[in-house]
Amino acid sequence: MNKRIKNERFLKACRKEPVDITPVWIMRQAGRYMKEYQAIRAKVDFLTLCKTPDLATEATLLPVNLLDVDVAILFSDILIPVEAMGLEVVFTENKGPVFPSPIRNQEQIRKLTTPRIEERTPFVFDAIRKIRKELEGRVPLIGFSGAPYTLATYMIEGETSRNFNAIKKWMYQSPTLLHELLEKTTTTVMDYVRAQVEAGAETIQIFDTWAGALSGDEYQFFSFPYTKRIIAEIKKSGVPAILYLNGGGLLLERLVATGADVISLDWRTDLRIAREQFGNKVAFQGNLEPCVLYGDSGTIRSEVKKILEKFGKGPGHIFNLGHGILPDTPFENAKEMIRAVHEESAIYHK
Ligand code: CP3
Repeated sequence: MNKRIKNERFLKACRKEPVDITPVWIMRQAGRYMKEYQAIRAKVDFLTLCKTPDLATEATLLPVNLLDVDVAILFSDILIPVEAMGLEVVFTENKGPVFPSPIRNQEQIRKLTTPRIEERTPFVFDAIRKIRKELEGRVPLIGFSGAPYTLATYMIEGETSRNFNAIKKWMYQSPTLLHELLEKTTTTVMDYVRAQVEAGAETIQIFDTWAGALSGDEYQFFSFPYTKRIIAEIKKSGVPAILYLNGGGLLLERLVATGADVISLDWRTDLRIAREQFGNKVAFQGNLEPCVLYGDSGTIRSEVKKILEKFGKGPGHIFNLGHGILPDTPFENAKEMIRAVHEESAIYHK
């Protein structure tokens, strides 16, 4: 236990220990919905921001200073280690991330490196050290990585995909090659999370965002074994592991079997049912529909109360959105959500 942390709610909730009120943060909490973030982005492009520790630190601290969140998350992107493996990524204004030369064959897989991560992405670890210093123990810091399956979808699809045809084609035409790519990515991710914890990350969240589009068998073969190894590595490093999927509700039993301490759910899964089934094994994070934040303050508060009520009494809940906050969310509404969670949750912890 890190004695220097003043607000331990988040770490306690990860371990299902009692807290005074429910901890809360927002996926993509440093983002375009904040004018202060836009001011940083007016000066530099997104990748430069990720690769400049002073700026990444500034972005990471914005929500801690402006929103009263209970935890900070490293400002970076899940595609940073993919670029370090040798695949060029470009962030476009409209389409999000794009890979100009997506993976099409075995030769391209062979060419990918499993980099010495501290040497290839030193800015990530420098940022973590700097953030920890500037936080001065106010709240803990989350580091993160994409899961191999989700990273492989980007490498093969070349961009954010609607139905994942390209990677699913590989599953059924060349599964051995897909496993070769997943294996190489797993080696990189394991190293990446270990190095983040060594630099000072106090929890690691694994984003397997797109694995929610998999059937049970597909998940079992192409994501589960790799995610499980990464979760084991995180736990070996001594910090809690959070696993997030968009649309993971049907896979819940398998997600719990990865060994993750916390399962982060989107808005389609009922927290009451999830807790009844697996609350003895894991803590849960989530799961407000991000569009609720388009509502007025009364609407936001009543939707927050519904989720708190669904989880019910006792520890093991970290409040969050079910996916990243949308860029056109009014800032005041994000603030109202955090305030509502803090004010309305005390009755569940008496
Ligand atoms: O949560 C945080 O505040 C930490 C920072 C963070 C970002 N991306 C910053 C970001 C984290 C944890 C991510 C993870 C990420 N990146 C995921 C998994 C989580 C999820 O949302 O599903 C995925 C799939 C990506 C890939 C990615 N990066 C996409 C699809 C996009 C474009 C989306 C968009 O809103 O335009 C990005 C860019 C990105 N990553 C932005 C931010 C703040 C917007 C960049 C900008 O300033 O223009």
